[in-house]
Amino acid sequence: MKFEQFKRHPLTFGPTPVEPLPRLSAHLGGKVEIWAKREDCNSGLAFGGNKVRKLEYLVPDALEQGCDTLVTIGGIQSNHTRQVAAVAAKLGMKCRLVQEHWVDWNDAVYDRVGNIQMSRIMGAEVELVNAGFDIGIRESWENALEDVRQRGGKPYAIPAGASDHKLGGLGFVGFAEEVRQQEAELGFQFDYIVVCAVTGSTQAGMVAGFAADGRANRVIGIDGSAEPAKTRDAVLRIARSTADLVDLGRAIEDEEVVLDTRYAYPAYGLPSAETLAAIRLSAQLEGMMTDPVYEGKSMQGMIDMIRHEEFPEGARVLYAHLGGVPAINGYSYLFKDG
Ligand SMILES: Cc1ncc(COP(=O)(O)O)c(C=O)c1O
Repeated sequence: MKFEQFKRHPLTFGPTPVEPLPRLSAHLGGKVEIWAKREDCNSGLAFGGNKVRKLEYLVPDALEQGCDTLVTIGGIQSNHTRQVAAVAAKLGMKCRLVQEHWVDWNDAVYDRVGNIQMSRIMGAEVELVNAGFDIGIRESWENALEDVRQRGGKPYAIPAGASDHKLGGLGFVGFAEEVRQQEAELGFQFDYIVVCAVTGSTQAGMVAGFAADGRANRVIGIDGSAEPAKTRDAVLRIARSTADLVDLGRAIEDEEVVLDTRYAYPAYGLPSAETLAAIRLSAQLEGMMTDPVYEGKSMQGMIDMIRHEEFPEGARVLYAHLGGVPAINGYSYLFKDG
């Protein structure tokens, strides 16, 4: 693998901590040991999260091209757009965000709190567009790129989730490298890694990274998109292109992408009663917050699989906490009683 040769612009604190979650493990029967890797605590840039790790590999490309404006897209409460806004501020660049109506959710202040509030405060130009959920390439984003050019700027194009980008998978190849080092220090290997997947490059990077030691299929993606065919396609496609990029030396097989489609209901961005129960359980037992869009669903999936004894007894499961808690402000009504 030639992962080390890619340029990385440091935006994170360094390796993210791994920590055991003993009270949650005990509550779920004590047969499985749950650990968390805290990507939600990875950076001082506006609460950080998984996109900062990805952006460390896109930024050198943007700087080399002499771009002056980062242009990206997401839903109204997108964590990704907030992290791009923070990175732009840190680098002294401009930021243009297209925020679409991806979630049918009408909390009174949904478009004014949490992620979008921070993006505005950090100086990003926010454009609200009335289009529904789609992880593909959008006309609204292409229009924004053109608009920046028309105004004399030099845009750097970052697709939704920094996923459909040639360098988008590298950050989470780095995650796999980091886990291997942490495992060497801990003296054991994790048996499974649970991760939420939507635009795909987080899981895809992990798949390419863990394929190096033959355990890509131990990465259990939990679909949060409720459009699992598109997400699965994206994960497989990005895992393959990332594996090529880092010279893995072999192709990624279909079976190496594991995407569990059972927990995204009722829709992208909308939590089920079971998602809310999972959010409350991990919050009340471990003080660890998750959100109703992404991490609450992967938490729900992990809890459900443990309850149904889908992991063998004695397994060590690593929950990749990718961030996303700021969005919880847009769901205040759901939590008015705790
Ligand atoms: C908190 C959080 N978790 C999970 C994901 C899913 O990651 P990806 O889009 O790389 O599949 C995202 C972004 O989409 C996110 O913001």
